[in-house]
Amino acid sequence: MTRLTDLPIRTKFFGLMSLLLVAVLLATGIFTYQRQKSFIIRFAVDNARSFATQLIETREYMSSVVKGEPEQNYNLVPQVVATQVAKRVTQNSKFYVRQVSLRYRNPENRPDAYETAQLQNFIRNPTAEVYDIVRTGDTSSFRYLQPMRATISCLGCHGSYESAPDFVKKRFPPGHYSYDYKVGEVIGAVSVSIPVKDLYAELGANLKLDLLSRGIVFLIVIIVMGAIMSREIVHPVKMLSERIVQVTKTGNFEEKLPQRGHDEIGVLIGAFNDMMDELSRRTLQSREADERYRRFIEVAASAVITFLQDGKIVIANQKAESLFGRPRQALLGESIFSFLEEGDALQEKLAQQEEFKEETSRQRVRRADGTLTEVEMVVSASTTDREPMFTAILRERSRG
Ligand code: HEC
Repeated sequence: MTRLTDLPIRTKFFGLMSLLLVAVLLATGIFTYQRQKSFIIRFAVDNARSFATQLIETREYMSSVVKGEPEQNYNLVPQVVATQVAKRVTQNSKFYVRQVSLRYRNPENRPDAYETAQLQNFIRNPTAEVYDIVRTGDTSSFRYLQPMRATISCLGCHGSYESAPDFVKKRFPPGHYSYDYKVGEVIGAVSVSIPVKDLYAELGANLKLDLLSRGIVFLIVIIVMGAIMSREIVHPVKMLSERIVQVTKTGNFEEKLPQRGHDEIGVLIGAFNDMMDELSRRTLQSREADERYRRFIEVAASAVITFLQDGKIVIANQKAESLFGRPRQALLGESIFSFLEEGDALQEKLAQQEEFKEETSRQRVRRADGTLTEVEMVVSASTTDREPMFTAILRERSRG
């Protein structure tokens, strides 16, 4: 498995950005959802309150103006009027409005469990309204209740049995619990409800649209950023590393990289080009020096051989060819020690002495034809930056 740090920058960038995208979308999604939810609850409360207020006002108005009319027309009973108004007002909405009482006259106005609890609560503490999300069975609803308190006009029909109009007396016998209210007493409540499903219907769709648009914007930003990064950083760096690999392989310092500007990457490429120039110059210089050295030893009066620590001959002049009795190809790459009678001893000496500088010794060279030639050999060491090199100057000892 590739390690995370080994992944291409572009992959890391897009991976990280995608994670960030998901996180941001999730966070804003949750935030927006919560905000819209509280917004929707506020909307529901405002609506419910407005319905309730309208109904209560309607009823109070009716209650204060009716004289004997309901006697002939039951539809003019304040409760009945308010119920009809409520129906019309909520016609085009999902809101459902009722008027309930613990001491109801009409069974249709019997409160359910939640309403009963709230009505009892209104009697105990004077509250302007209550609302909540309530679960009944497997549906949740938004519920709102606003209490109605008896005013003097209500007592005309909700006061004592004796003072009630005949049509009320007829329907509700003496002792019926819908009589004997006192002014200010909670007589009932307007109850508004709407299924949460209907209330939040818009929410889901809005949220999806919102997240989608945000996601698209963010995605575009990521892609543009990725493209800029790729163009400005990844591509030049890749080009640079490819060139370095190539230079290492071929040793060709000539080709330059195109430098686009003077930003950090531009400066890096400029520095690389300068380095290539410098390396190219130095290589040329050292080649020239090599060449000069070769030409110089070619004209030297003695045999000159340059070899490495292990004896491998790297340079040999023409005098060396004739001294060793071998063509240059037979010398180069071979160990100088194998051509000396006491080569092993010399090799050991060179290897042992760390600080070997220069030494003159007598050696006997084994020529190709098997004859031995006595020579005086001066070996001097030079250390290049890679490994120690030795130069041997061999002079044939005049026989005698
Ligand atoms: C003209 C007589 C009359 C007046 C005035 C009157 N009511 Fe009623 N009220 C009734 C009758 C009759 C009913 C039963 C309606 C039905 O059958 O649905 C009723 C029902 C109600 C109900 C519904 C619960 C139930 O008992 O079914 C409430 C709440 C209520 N009245 C409150 C009030 C308030 C508050 C006032 C004063 C603002 C008021 N009423 C004034 C006659 C009256």
